[in-house]
Amino acid sequence: MLQNENHYDVIVIGGGAMGLATAYQLSKQKAKTLVLEQFTFKNQLGSSAGVSRQFRIPYPDTYMVQMALDSEPYWDELQTHTHKTLLDKVGTLWFGDPSVQSTEGNIAEAEKALQELNVPYESLTAEEIEKRFHFKNLPKEYTGLFQPDGASIDFRATIQTLYELCLKSEYVTLQEQSPAIEIKEIGDLFQVTTPNGVSIGKKIVLTPGPYMNSATHLLGFHVEATYWNMSSAYFKKTDPSIQYPTWFVFQNPIKENGNQFYGFPEVEWDHPEYIRVAPDFVINPLDNPNERTLIPNEQELAYTSQWVKDHMEGLDPTPYFTSTCLVALSTIPNKELLIDFAPSYVPNHKNIVIYATGWAAKFTPYLGKILADLALYGKTDFDITPFKLGQDYFKKFKK
Ligand code: BEZ
Repeated sequence: MLQNENHYDVIVIGGGAMGLATAYQLSKQKAKTLVLEQFTFKNQLGSSAGVSRQFRIPYPDTYMVQMALDSEPYWDELQTHTHKTLLDKVGTLWFGDPSVQSTEGNIAEAEKALQELNVPYESLTAEEIEKRFHFKNLPKEYTGLFQPDGASIDFRATIQTLYELCLKSEYVTLQEQSPAIEIKEIGDLFQVTTPNGVSIGKKIVLTPGPYMNSATHLLGFHVEATYWNMSSAYFKKTDPSIQYPTWFVFQNPIKENGNQFYGFPEVEWDHPEYIRVAPDFVINPLDNPNERTLIPNEQELAYTSQWVKDHMEGLDPTPYFTSTCLVALSTIPNKELLIDFAPSYVPNHKNIVIYATGWAAKFTPYLGKILADLALYGKTDFDITPFKLGQDYFKKFKK
């Protein structure tokens, strides 16, 4: 244990789901940890916004399937700390045009990856999908797969559980309203300044979600990304007996009116009697996270509403509640999550761990373990090679 009050083994910058999961894992290793959150903990301004997420195993790449499988014991462990059900196992239904390549991959490639790792799933025809899962008017050529271990994640309860674990840990200090405004390398250590004071850390973990470059710029590098302000809508159930799994539809875009939609079952912890359906596209990607507004794009909502009307049973297609969530996405093809050390031109780069971009809520407790191990030991059991940025990708940024 470090003696000075403001000295830490690890300073985590960004107190959303990933930052809290990392701090929790660090506390299990008895590492004195400071979490700096620029807004308030549990805020709705970054990638941890909203209430539900999808846990799914299908991915077109086996290493992603493996990561989802490896996450399961970490979810089980987190579950022991709360009476709320974190993963509501309703299964994953992936369906649509089998030729479509989307941001989430492709159905046939996912089937291959599942087979390779012996993950059970069923292949489905359009007719079977309509009969079993309450969709309608699907093009005949659509196919699908159902994987029973998929779940709807109570993400609010997940974050609350991690927050409480950190709060009661003697190893973790949580500081909100504390954006890092300066990071200085002092010998082997880092001095991090916020409006609330100065702290010294041996290691740094960066988990600021879409605001990552506000932190990386303090260290002299920049991560290229595009930003999606994702809209979401809730539709009232007109037939209470109908229940949906978590699902995702792959389609070819017709003009610009979107292609992918995804949805959730009705859950008692997120607008009971309503079902969340959302577009997995944005009409206007952003270059800068500060351009976002908290207002969902009307046109994206209209396309979603039309899709609900055309293809879903038992729902009133008027969006009753809406929300937005800001996510940074990598601009490197096939590189969803970026997990790496800082680039080598940054002093002490091996002591700076960064997680940036992509949809990672389903990995939350496991990603916390990966980031904690990278910070404490410089390595982790999970092979992060596919997630490494490659040094060319980091642009230098003049501090
Ligand atoms: C995902 O499972 O990664 C995902 C689902 C819906 C929208 C975006 C991502």
